[in-house]
Amino acid sequence: MPTLGRVLIIAGSDSGGGAGIQADIKTVTALGGYAATAITAITVQNTLGVSAAYPLPTDLIAAQALAVLEDIGADVIKTGMLGDVEVVERVARLLDDAARPVVIDPVMIAKGGARLLADDALSPLLSLLVPRAALLTPNAPEAEALTGIAVQTPDDLRRAGEALLAAGSGAVLMKGGHLPGPRVVDLLITPYGETAFEGERIDTRHTHGTGCTLASACAVSLAQGLSLEVAVARAWDYVHQAILQAPGLGRGNGPLDHAWPLRGRR
Ligand SMILES: Nc1ncnc2c1ncn2[C@@H]1O[C@H](COP(=O)(O)OP(=O)(O)OP(=O)(O)O)[C@@H](O)[C@H]1O
Ligand SMILES: [Mg+2]
Repeated sequence: MPTLGRVLIIAGSDSGGGAGIQADIKTVTALGGYAATAITAITVQNTLGVSAAYPLPTDLIAAQALAVLEDIGADVIKTGMLGDVEVVERVARLLDDAARPVVIDPVMIAKGGARLLADDALSPLLSLLVPRAALLTPNAPEAEALTGIAVQTPDDLRRAGEALLAAGSGAVLMKGGHLPGPRVVDLLITPYGETAFEGERIDTRHTHGTGCTLASACAVSLAQGLSLEVAVARAWDYVHQAILQAPGLGRGNGPLDHAWPLRGRR
């Protein structure tokens, strides 16, 4: 059994419990870690989509993070939905002060289409947060927005990933969930090489929160002291099983089974 591993998660709340802070807490807990949070926004959300998003004041977000760091501490910080320029800038300063490895999920648009990052926050995300990431986990549209490279194939993912490494990220996990085809391929690219994580595409609509879940599984695994390659392999397996065992809730993109390790593999 790995050591505890403390993760401070800076992200938005999903009332439906499938993505965002809720997915992050469930993932970190299911993998044996300790989750603490700084909530950036409250979204009104279910499997059918986001119907409202209420950003919290930047000072309140920072105060939550500082209260955690000053007392409980964190081995790894994970960021998700940040919302606007002011929060991106404040989080960048926080990350410098905390001096902890950071997993950055550059969340931009929810599965249902709702915008979770202001357009003018894209450039500060690239200049302030990408260089501070130990691991950056963009999906294909986010990789396109950050690099200007059209991403439709694993080769495009690789090109965009190399551009993000050049922009200063320590490593990138390029997610291929949005690319067409019967197989899903994610690429972990580091300055030392590339590892592909590949499997059959699971034919399901229950993929709400896959991205948050993957990034949090990486974060807790790193917090527990696993190497990057082993952490990503464990995270990939955790998400894959969680999709396979999705409980089928809701009428839209349903949530995963974050608690599958308690039930065992199917
Ligand atoms: N249908 C599927 N079958 C198998 N794996 C999948 C499927 N959909 C997504 N994944 C995996 O889930 C992870 C998240 O990928 P995806 O590209 O969907 O991220 P995302 O768009 O950020 O997700 P989210 O919409 O939750 O933010 C990746 O490891 C991807 O390979
Ligand atoms: Mg995502």
